[in-house]
Amino acid sequence: MDPDTLDTIGRYDFEGQVLSPTMTAHPKFDPKTGEMICYGYEVSWLLNPFVWSHLLTVHQAGGDGNDGSRDIVVYTIDASGLKTEECWYKAPFCGIIHDCGVSDNWVVLPMTPLKCDPERLKKGENHWAWDPNEDQWYGLVPRRKGKPEDIRWFRSKNAFQGHTVSCYETPDGEVVFDLTIADGNVFFWWPSVDTPAGTVAKRNKLHNSTTRWIFDPQAPNNSWVDPVEERTEFSGEFSRIDDRFTTYKYNHYWQAIIDGSKPYDFKNADRQPAASSTRWGILPGTTQRPRRFGRVHEPAFIPRAGSKEEGDGYLVALLNHLDVLRNDVCIFDARNIAQGPVAVIHLPFKLRLGLHGNFVEQSEIETWREKRSRELGPVEPAKESLNATDETDESLNISVNGEGGKGANFLLFCV
Ligand SMILES: [Fe+2]
Repeated sequence: MDPDTLDTIGRYDFEGQVLSPTMTAHPKFDPKTGEMICYGYEVSWLLNPFVWSHLLTVHQAGGDGNDGSRDIVVYTIDASGLKTEECWYKAPFCGIIHDCGVSDNWVVLPMTPLKCDPERLKKGENHWAWDPNEDQWYGLVPRRKGKPEDIRWFRSKNAFQGHTVSCYETPDGEVVFDLTIADGNVFFWWPSVDTPAGTVAKRNKLHNSTTRWIFDPQAPNNSWVDPVEERTEFSGEFSRIDDRFTTYKYNHYWQAIIDGSKPYDFKNADRQPAASSTRWGILPGTTQRPRRFGRVHEPAFIPRAGSKEEGDGYLVALLNHLDVLRNDVCIFDARNIAQGPVAVIHLPFKLRLGLHGNFVEQSEIETWREKRSRELGPVEPAKESLNATDETDESLNISVNGEGGKGANFLLFCV
């Protein structure tokens, strides 16, 4: 994607270094090293014509990342765009791994009990099905020099893992992982396999708690874990931190919350007159929220120029006006959101709901552009479609629109 015009250029495979047919929409960036850690799942490389075309320089028919494979691949890309780590692991089943956590030495892969069964695929049924009897799983893999046998799984009671808050290590090497978790199937359009045919899919009434997990990398495989802390007073999602503190112990995060006790406001076409973006620390915590603020999308954090203090900066979020089909861009003082936005940009049109987004400093783009031109040359879009039989590459549309069920392809930032 062109960073100035936002024009789509094409699919990016890191100049042929990343051959996975699927890729998370939630890579993590290590502020200490500048590395990007990312992964794909349902990535049967043995059946993948794209991989084979590179290995054998010919195209072969086969899978394309939609085959129920239990394979997971985890990559590290350095600040120049060079792949430095790649390891392929096996999951106990093909389940959705939507987001991840990254600490100095580990990657946490939360696997939700939404399963793909190759036999069901052959019958033309839903790709994914909720399994109410399956545990939630957490895969822990080393960030460096990982081997397939290194993956360690932890299990807990059935629930639906949402987006990551953050992840870091304690001084004694345990991995702290914070994320929101729903108490049922968020993706109601993929019900369990025993749902009677013809049943109309209905949205589930759910509560999203914010949970803290601690994983001991030395624990035996398949160890049972329970959250060490579970905050249930808000039902929230789309948590964000000050990204400069990824892998660090942190004190602040911001989260969009829903107050399910409030009736739907038909006049203003909004469910929660009081719903808001909020800020609260997990341990210890204070909570703030703007009073009587409308429904907001996922926020993003913008550091204050020159400041290095955690949370010192601005929070930017889209505010919905569903009654008049319009959005505002609202900018808050991130550590004082209770006072309401310090600036509002009135957009004359409506944007999609629930879009993820990131803030990037112009200077970062320019530094990277210069580094590329000096060391590796300009970035190039992938030379061929991921799916040899479909040159339109529908997967690209998924990534443009945010995310699909199992993540999306990267877009190319070309300068
Ligand atoms: Fe997401």
